Amino acid sequence: MIETIPSFGLGTFRVAAGKTAQSVKSALQLGYRHIDTAQYYDNEAEVGQGVRDSGIPREDVWVTTKVWWERLRRDDLIASLKESHRKLGIGTIDLALVHWPSPDSVVPIGETLAAFQEAQQLGLIRHYGVSNFTAPLLEEALAAPGGDAIVTNQFEVSPFLANRALVEATQKLGVKVTAYMPLGEGRAHTDPTLADIAKKHGATPAQVTFAWLLSREIVVLSASTNPEHQQVNWDAQKLTLDADDIARIDALDEGKRHANPPFAPTW
Ligand SMILES: NC(=O)c1ccc[n+]([C@@H]2O[C@H](COP(=O)([O-])OP(=O)(O)OC[C@H]3O[C@@H](n4cnc5c(N)ncnc54)[C@H](OP(=O)(O)O)[C@@H]3O)[C@@H](O)[C@H]2O)c1
Repeated sequence: MIETIPSFGLGTFRVAAGKTAQSVKSALQLGYRHIDTAQYYDNEAEVGQGVRDSGIPREDVWVTTKVWWERLRRDDLIASLKESHRKLGIGTIDLALVHWPSPDSVVPIGETLAAFQEAQQLGLIRHYGVSNFTAPLLEEALAAPGGDAIVTNQFEVSPFLANRALVEATQKLGVKVTAYMPLGEGRAHTDPTLADIAKKHGATPAQVTFAWLLSREIVVLSASTNPEHQQVNWDAQKLTLDADDIARIDALDEGKRHANPPFAPTW
């Protein structure tokens, strides 16, 4: 069993129906060991299919799912994780996250954490954590019973949204940061600074972006259905940036957020 969240994962959000299983299978065969899905993505069955088709032993793969914010009450959370467990069909789920915090804390985080612990006892999940939590919400969660077992806070980080204060607060609280939408909705591919740094290293702008995140000890989620892109992205783990590169990427921060739905917390 993998006991800590692997630092480079495959995302599956917005992958066209019918393409997810193949992309999970090819990523696992290339070496990926971490797959990210969610109840909201409506692709858990395909993710499970891809894991089974890959031929990689189940215990060598880490699968994360997320519980939608409307299902955070105890009974809903248990029922939803039973559904996720059945759809994935891979045995105990490695990690389940609160996808978005309950708006205005209508569902107390303590109720959700207690339900996660119950889900652990039922063998539905091994670990739990949160996503899109601000620093005050994370502090509140960590202080609640069961909060000390939160393994990650997953939120948006890209060169254009360095999210420095939340990254630092999360890491200081001893919780791993996982970054989503790392390429800033594709903008990284054409950014001149990233292209210049990429040229210097014989790399691609996407690889430079992932190497920058890894240098900040942030778990990377990259999504691709194209095996060539999956390989390029995976190889970013071999790239080491120097202090000058990192300073130049740090300077690209505009605080520009893409994921900000009406039910998001006040950032
Ligand atoms: N917790 C949350 O609220 C939340 C929110 C958003 C996302 N997420 C998670 O984070 C994951 C990553 O975010 P994202 O889906 O926005 O991913 P992303 O990796 O930033 O972007 C994915 C897109 O980039 C393209 N791409 C990837 N690598 C490429 C490369 N090397 N060259 C050219 N194009 C490339 C892909 O196209 P191809 O398929 O053609 O390669 C795809 O269209 C999601 O899939 C999801 O699992 C979580």
